Amino acid sequence: MKFDLLSTDAGSKARAGTITTDHGKIETPIFMPVGTVASVKGVHQRELKEEINPDIILGNTYHLYLRPQTEILKKAGGLHKFMNWDRNILTDSGGYQVYSLSARRKIKEEGVKFKSHIDGSYHTFTPENVMEIQRAIGADIIMAFDECTPYPCDYKYAKRSMHMTHRWLDRCVNHLEKVDPFYGFDQTLFPIVQGSTYKDLRKQSAEYIASVGAEGNAIGGLSVGEPAEEMYAMTEVVTEILPEDKPRYLMGVGTPINILENIALGVDMFDCVMPTRNARNGMLFTAHGTINIKNKKWEDDFSPIDEMGITFVDTEYSKAYVRHLFSVNELLGKQIATIHNLGFYMWLVREARKHILAGDFTTWKNMMVKQMDKRL
Ligand code: GUN
Repeated sequence: MKFDLLSTDAGSKARAGTITTDHGKIETPIFMPVGTVASVKGVHQRELKEEINPDIILGNTYHLYLRPQTEILKKAGGLHKFMNWDRNILTDSGGYQVYSLSARRKIKEEGVKFKSHIDGSYHTFTPENVMEIQRAIGADIIMAFDECTPYPCDYKYAKRSMHMTHRWLDRCVNHLEKVDPFYGFDQTLFPIVQGSTYKDLRKQSAEYIASVGAEGNAIGGLSVGEPAEEMYAMTEVVTEILPEDKPRYLMGVGTPINILENIALGVDMFDCVMPTRNARNGMLFTAHGTINIKNKKWEDDFSPIDEMGITFVDTEYSKAYVRHLFSVNELLGKQIATIHNLGFYMWLVREARKHILAGDFTTWKNMMVKQMDKRL
């Protein structure tokens, strides 16, 4: 994997760059649509590529390990082939889902024993077997196995957990040093900074992660319920320390405003279920604020769902029609809303990139943040 830093904004720490992997280029800042179980919910791969056009999507080790299971993915020749997606894929390690989804879990130095949220069966994730599962899934970027601490988290627990995440990282690195490429293309490990909402722990964790010398680095344990200001404060501490010549990925973030503010703090990559999950609940993101398309006020509004939108749904369907689809619970409503929201998120990060390259990112960002902070 290669990262070319093209430009840094004058008024902030925002950066524009290009990541190159064996599955192509990723122009940063980037938003990665979430395709948890080998599908970006409700969207064909063809639509994803032709309408939304992301350079990279995300999959989840926890889910793919449970279903369809690693053996099936190996037989398919990896996730790219299984789901017919020839661009980049990043897989999260399960270090978050194990805590947020499994019915029960026991964390030990060796790893995490957990109970499946699907059938109640017991499984164990260790740094070593999570590397093997991610190798077999075949993502281009794979994540270190970590513990994502909850919010709030007491200092003692956060500190102990952070050190364990660091030891788990060493085990991931050691394991990967011993093995050959699984499918013949490169798979790059990103370590994850933890440390909850404590500046000294975040600093210590970022220094440790930076010392490993990985090709890219991630920030975890944020967007777990803390106020946005606290999230930004942690990002700021960490991006001061993580190497400038490597991409930085802020995991699980966030709202359009969170994304712009974190780009300003030097983050290059984002993922979040918000545009897809909220779409299925009737929430549309636009440059002028959010729309709850289920509201009665849209009943006879025959204007396009978003005149400025970049996807075909934005101008081909009216607000009144999409509201109707939601009120009669038609699948198409959720599909339209999903394509719209992903199109909007992609537009937002591409515009951010354009403004970073043009040198007026901060002015544009401040204007957008004000404009988007509304309910229509
Ligand atoms: N997704 C959102 N936050 C996190 C985190 O802290 N760790 C992992 N592995 N995934 C995440």
